[in-house]
Amino acid sequence: MVASLDGFIAKKDGSVSWMQSSDQYEKGITLTEEAVEAFIQSIDCYVMGSRTYEHALELGWPYRETPVMVLTHRDLQDDRESVTFYAGDLEDLVNSQLKPAYKNIWMVGGAMLAKEFIRLELVDEIIMSIIPVLLGDGTLFFDYIEKEEKLHLKDVTAYKDGMVELCYEVKRA
Ligand SMILES: NC(=O)c1ccc[n+]([C@@H]2O[C@H](COP(=O)([O-])OP(=O)(O)OC[C@H]3O[C@@H](n4cnc5c(N)ncnc54)[C@H](OP(=O)(O)O)[C@@H]3O)[C@@H](O)[C@H]2O)c1
Repeated sequence: MVASLDGFIAKKDGSVSWMQSSDQYEKGITLTEEAVEAFIQSIDCYVMGSRTYEHALELGWPYRETPVMVLTHRDLQDDRESVTFYAGDLEDLVNSQLKPAYKNIWMVGGAMLAKEFIRLELVDEIIMSIIPVLLGDGTLFFDYIEKEEKLHLKDVTAYKDGMVELCYEVKRA
C-alpha cells in the first residue's frame, strides 16, 4: 500500500491528494507509464475490503476487467462480471479458490483486511510505497498486528518524486 512516512494509508476525510508527491529527488528514477502498465498487467486478481472497494467506486474504477474479490458481510451488488463478493473463511478463500486460479494475487487493502491477511499468514510479499509526507492522523498501515513476522528486504526503489518503494518477502520457518 501507499503510506505516509508516519504510517498512514488513508486520511480521515478520504482525500488522496497527499499521494501525489511534488518532491524532487535527484538520484531517484522516473516511474514511466510503461512500467505502470507492465505492473498492472502482471496482476491476475485483486482482493480488497469493502471500504476500499467503495472508495474505488467513488474515485473511479481502476481495476479494468481484472477479477476483483471484495470482502464484505453485507449484500452488495455490482454489475461488473469481474467483481465477486465474499464473506467467510479467508484461508479457504485464498488456498482453495484464489491460489488454484490465479498466480499473482494483489491484496489491495485496506488496513483492516491487510491485518487479517498478515495474521493468517496469507501474505508472501509486502510492498510499502512511502510518500514524503507526515499525515499525523488517519488509518494506520500496521495497526497492532499483534504478531511478529521476520521479513527479507527484497527490493528498494527511490523515485524522482521522492517516493520510496520497499518490497519485503515474508520469511516463514
Ligand atoms: N494507501 C493505499 O495504498 C490504500 C490501499 C487500500 C485502501 N486504502 C484506503 O483505506 C481505507 C479503507 O481501509 P479500512 O481498513 O478502513 O477498510 P477495508 O480493509 O478496505 O475494508 C474493511 C471491510 O472489509 C470487510 N471485511 C474485512 N474482513 C472481512 C472478512 N473476513 N470477511 C468479510 N468481510 C470482511 C468488512 O466489510 P463490511 O463492513 O461490508 O462487512 C470491513 O468493514 C479507504 O480509505 C481506502 O481508500 C488505501
